[in-house]
Amino acid sequence: STVKVTKICCIGAGYVGGPTCAVIALRCPHVQVTIVDLNKARIDAWNSPDFKLPIYEPGLEDVVRKARDRNLFFSTDVDKGIQDADLIFVSVNTPTKKSGVGAGFAADLNYVELATRRIAAVATSNKIVVEKSTVPCRTAESMRTILEANSKPNCRFDILSNPEFLAEGTAISDLFKPDRVLIGSLQTLEGKAACSALAEVYANWVPADRILTVGLWSSELSKLAANAMLAQRISSINALSAICEATGANIDEVAHAVGFDSRVGPKFLRASVGFGGSCFQKDILNLVYLSESLHLPEVAEYWKQVVVMNEYQKRRFSKTVVDTLFNTITGKRIAVLGFAFKADTGDTRESPAITLIRDFQSEKALINVYDPQVEHEQIWADLTEASPSTPLASIQKQVSICSSALEACKNAEAVVIATEWKEFRDIDWEQVYKGMNKPAFVFDGRLLVDADKLRKIGFKVNTIGRGERM
Ligand code: UDX
Ligand code: UDX
Ligand code: ADP
Repeated sequence: STVKVTKICCIGAGYVGGPTCAVIALRCPHVQVTIVDLNKARIDAWNSPDFKLPIYEPGLEDVVRKARDRNLFFSTDVDKGIQDADLIFVSVNTPTKKSGVGAGFAADLNYVELATRRIAAVATSNKIVVEKSTVPCRTAESMRTILEANSKPNCRFDILSNPEFLAEGTAISDLFKPDRVLIGSLQTLEGKAACSALAEVYANWVPADRILTVGLWSSELSKLAANAMLAQRISSINALSAICEATGANIDEVAHAVGFDSRVGPKFLRASVGFGGSCFQKDILNLVYLSESLHLPEVAEYWKQVVVMNEYQKRRFSKTVVDTLFNTITGKRIAVLGFAFKADTGDTRESPAITLIRDFQSEKALINVYDPQVEHEQIWADLTEASPSTPLASIQKQVSICSSALEACKNAEAVVIATEWKEFRDIDWEQVYKGMNKPAFVFDGRLLVDADKLRKIGFKVNTIGRGERM
């Protein structure tokens, strides 16, 4: 029996659920899409008359303007959303557990379980339930058990896994033109029918050969594997960047030469101060935990090294700053340009900038921060979380948030580029130089600026992965 999806509900209006379902609504005008969330402030922001959306993502506002109140709706009425829908995306948060079994590694599946139990409690008709949040392998199986144990008669649930591969900052173009859409289902007749129903939704704009259908567990594992292998590329190139700095080689040249091998490929080989974001570290730690649970300690150890190398890279970078500034930054003013975990997003989860600033704080430096997108309250919240024993008032004696890059660099000894915002390449570096104490240092943690141009102005420049003279 073929199911035709006409009403979709998405539980969770965050970085994944919001953009994904907004694009589904735009591309499928005949499908009604309702995104629900318990967080009223978030829903209000999605519904705001002047489109002050809760997340910053290039192109998102345009999509929401076109689809909202046409076939795209945002609501706090979770139960009604569930009852009305034929297909439900579960797109809630799955943070790393902070306590209990697997603390620091395993995913906290509490939100997924609560959302699943809610579906079971209020559904009165058949539903296709789609796991969209990144979750460890076999979560779909738990969801199925919960749904089946709690459902009413004549109410059947089919579970699919449909991991999202969008990257923040390019979410909308990733969703418009995905490399692939992955759908996992049980290989039963019903499972395959549910899979086809969801595939049909994507087929409204995604070419058929890019819609991959696999088993449930392969789908779940593929998401963890994709993120782990992407992060592994960055840790590999960052490990090589340390060798470059020590030998006089240049990581740009090495990455270019290596990436030219079609078996390796050129993308995702940019050395940096370290990767951040809500996914990479979390998903690798999930994989580590999964491997340990499966009694595969060598496998766990292998993947763990990707995170260990990332921590090392951040520490190595802040040490370079201290060493270069004559082994002390006490009382010195350091401008940190960028606080988001990458450009074109206001998201700060696991941002390397947080670690750098915490390191500079413990060296008793004075820090000026500037980021074009991140809210000031978010910066204070992140810095407080990074130094839980330091009261905010003390943090604020050391750290100031500035309203422009130029202002942040005034009277500083050093500029540290922590996020690759384009505007940092194009600031008036002559002006920055004039306002700084001399010698004026630039530490480029993102391979962003033209070091030779800056040296001509008078700066001493240190670029990650380049073993050249300052
Ligand atoms: C990632 C995956 O790319 C995406 O497919 C998945 O769905 C979610 O996780 P995201 O974290 O949003 O997306 O951004 P991404 O572009 O992957 O960058 C992650 C981090 O790696 C950032 O801190 C970025 O600056 C860093 N990075 C990326 C590098 O340091 N070097 C690179 O070459 C690429
Ligand atoms: C390798 C490099 O490919 C080549 O560029 C370099 O100049 C020399 O080293 P080679 O060792 O001759 O070449 O063969 P290659 O095809 O790379 O295979 C190496 C090993 O990896 C083989 O044992 C092969 O069976 C194995 N392999 C390769 C896999 O197990 N899986 C793969 O996906 C690819
Ligand atoms: P992601 O980056 O995975 O999208 P976010 O934290 O941005 O994660 O978004 C997840 C959203 O899910 C949050 O806005 C949160 O309020 C919402 N949420 C969590 N649990 C539930 C639930 N049981 N019902 C409805 N919404 C939920």
